[in-house]
Amino acid sequence: MRIVSIGGGPAGLYFAILMKKADPAHDITVLERNRLDDTFGFGVVFSEATQENLEKADPETFDAMARQSARWDDIDIHYHGGVISSTGHGFSGLSRRAMLEILARRALALGVTIEIGTDVQDLNPYLDANLVLAADGANSIVRERFAEHFRPSIDWRPNRFVWLGTTRPFPAFTFYFKRDRYGLWRVHAYQYERGHSTFIVEAREATWRAACLDRATEHETIAFCEELFAEELEGHRLQQNRSIWRGFGTVKNERWHHRNVVLLGDAAHTAHFSVGSGTKLAMEDAIVLARAIGQHPDLPEALVAYEAEQRPAVESLQRAAQVSLEYFENTERYMQLEPVQFAFNLLTRSLRITHDNLKVRDPGFVAGVDRWFAGQAATQAQTAVPLDPPPPPLFTPFRLRELLLENRAVVSPMCQYSADDGTPNDWHLVHLGTRAIGGAGLVFTEMTDVTREGRISPGCTGMYKPEHVAAWQRIVDFVHTHSRAAIGLQLGHAGRKASTQFLWQADNEPLPDGNWPIMAASPIPYYPHSQIPKEMDRQDMAEVRNAFARAARMAEDAGFDILELHFAHGYLLASFISPLTNQRRDEYGGALANRMRFPLEVFDAVRVAWPAAKPISVRISAVDWAPGGLESPDAVEVACALRAHGCDILDVSAGQTVADQRPVYGRLFQTPFADRIRHEAGMPVMTVGNISSYTDVNTILAAGRADLCVLARAHLWDPYWTRHAARELGWPVPWPDQYETLDAYKPRF
Ligand SMILES: Cc1cc2nc3c(=O)[nH]c(=O)nc-3n(C[C@H](O)[C@H](O)[C@H](O)COP(=O)(O)OP(=O)(O)OC[C@H]3O[C@@H](n4cnc5c(N)ncnc54)[C@H](O)[C@@H]3O)c2cc1C
Ligand SMILES: Cc1cc2nc3c(=O)[nH]c(=O)nc-3n(C[C@H](O)[C@H](O)[C@H](O)COP(=O)(O)O)c2cc1C
Repeated sequence: MRIVSIGGGPAGLYFAILMKKADPAHDITVLERNRLDDTFGFGVVFSEATQENLEKADPETFDAMARQSARWDDIDIHYHGGVISSTGHGFSGLSRRAMLEILARRALALGVTIEIGTDVQDLNPYLDANLVLAADGANSIVRERFAEHFRPSIDWRPNRFVWLGTTRPFPAFTFYFKRDRYGLWRVHAYQYERGHSTFIVEAREATWRAACLDRATEHETIAFCEELFAEELEGHRLQQNRSIWRGFGTVKNERWHHRNVVLLGDAAHTAHFSVGSGTKLAMEDAIVLARAIGQHPDLPEALVAYEAEQRPAVESLQRAAQVSLEYFENTERYMQLEPVQFAFNLLTRSLRITHDNLKVRDPGFVAGVDRWFAGQAATQAQTAVPLDPPPPPLFTPFRLRELLLENRAVVSPMCQYSADDGTPNDWHLVHLGTRAIGGAGLVFTEMTDVTREGRISPGCTGMYKPEHVAAWQRIVDFVHTHSRAAIGLQLGHAGRKASTQFLWQADNEPLPDGNWPIMAASPIPYYPHSQIPKEMDRQDMAEVRNAFARAARMAEDAGFDILELHFAHGYLLASFISPLTNQRRDEYGGALANRMRFPLEVFDAVRVAWPAAKPISVRISAVDWAPGGLESPDAVEVACALRAHGCDILDVSAGQTVADQRPVYGRLFQTPFADRIRHEAGMPVMTVGNISSYTDVNTILAAGRADLCVLARAHLWDPYWTRHAARELGWPVPWPDQYETLDAYKPRF
């Protein structure tokens, strides 16, 4: 096979090596415009997991790289004048120049032709090869040439960074967070070979501009950074190597191959340097592509197999990298955290390292975090919490007004579509009762509607008839008598999403017959074929507000511990908040402060009707996942308004406002919104959305991303989720007497 690689970086050279190893008859040419010792930057890092892949793929290259690598286990975080250290991380660093020399030497030894100094501008002479590699890095010209087929996108990020070197031999992977009069500077530094370290300086654009670095030469950059970090450099100098300030661009391509041309490495995808994985991905692309070609004699099939195998791994890493880069874009937000929590938050920022992972790497560090967290919880909850050993964060208490929750797990509101004219029945008793026995600190009812017309479906529960009080009281009493859980009532009105079918019939679709009139902020149907809601007038608003207040009083009569008002998911009150569904011209429409007016009137009426000792939560959709809709800064404004009106905690969900939303799903996908509100609006939050593991819950809590974790489907799957978490985490929760025999039971699956 005749193979031409445009670009002789890690991707192109490593692929050439692997293909030559597989079959020395391949004719492989690597075209590289730069001299090998003329590379940008200084060092690269590899995690231990990456090294295993490389060792298997080509032990010779791996050994040569290992001989020149610097290894370290520790991460040192310099924050507010102190250092927090964590160990067990297992990384190695290598000079980029040394790595390229190793790869080139090995490739030449295997018979690869490397043409140094060839700057390819015209692809045509090369396209008759059997395979053309677009291995020409993030600014790939090959990708641009076939852009209509690869459909690339580059997301340019706002922070600025510069890649510098220094002779200071950092003993650990080192982060600095240092403020000066221009703002906060972040440094990522590590030793990549004896006596040489990478020193990446990063800042917000405003900080960088304020320091006039947008006009700085390389020398001026060095002078500025040497002065700023004089203490940290301990007398060592900074070094430059095409050290230009830039923004990071996340590259993605909808397709990675076209005819005989294939993208790999940075040409195909980039991952922010804070997850240290660009080189790893480039080399793993090469491994997967070479293997696919070995397994599929037909080249087009091989290229399909390569993309099918490697794309999920890349996308998963890009998601982690995205969360990590956003952390560094928003580090200012976390600068008020106590050092131990700041460090835990930083180490777990990309979601790939959890509380459990860190416990394996550095048990002492995690024990310290847990002890600190338990101490904070004791103060917040005004109750005793053991400190030696401390409970896992999930099993610490939390107080909302007079309500003391025993732990931080919450059963999310989930419609059951099983009521008759709003009256809950045995299904609801068993459903909620089981989950309360299951150990969660707080169990929420499904969205329970304040009027008959406000129901999503004919099967939804309500709080609008006198008999509803007794029916709910039976359930509340059961929970209070037989479990240690608190129980909350979620109150809502479905607005334009009322009068629809059950979830399992046709979600959000109008009833086949028997529809009732619906209303909303503006007369916009959910689907084009949905009913057009009536635009609410003042009379309607007064009636709805009074219905909420009446339902709150009935909830108190039924004995509920907490109320949650539903301001999310496109229902009535959400329809006022989102600009996509509120197009009113009166004082209830327009700017966000106006759009919040009616929801806040409802909140105030409920707050008056509900006992002062009992808390109120509000569920919001932080974003609409749709152009022109709510964005996450809006959610902070919504939160601030609610906090000012006495809302105790925000339950941060997202979307479901409009039918053509484009959500970005993934593990813990809504947690960043909760995190932002918690830090920027300064109020307690619950996070919900694709949370299912105990360790994710402990991570979220210990990192300060939320105060409570709300799980919906995980609790349908396993009503005893919290008890099972307790057993797994070695912090058993006593079983009810009836089940006491389980204390000595060991299930085997
Ligand atoms: C600040 C910073 C820090 C980083 N830190 C790390 C880290 O710690 N760990 C890590 O794994 N990764 C890191 N990376 C990422 C890493 O450098 C890249 O992901 C990796 O080099 C990608 O390899 P590649 O072969 O795809 O592309 P490149 O390494 O960019 O190689 C492409 C090659 O193609 C050549 N080329 C381009 N166009 C042409 C042309 N027209 N004709 C001929 N030749 C051409 C270029 O000269 C270059 O040598 C970092 C990146 C940055 C910016
Ligand atoms: C069957 C079902 C019914 C739901 N009903 C409600 C509801 O009544 N009120 C509400 O706010 N959210 C409702 N949701 C959304 C959940 O509360 C939760 O926000 C969502 O399922 C994401 O959490 P998860 O990933 O843990 O399932 C429902 C979800 C499911 C699966």
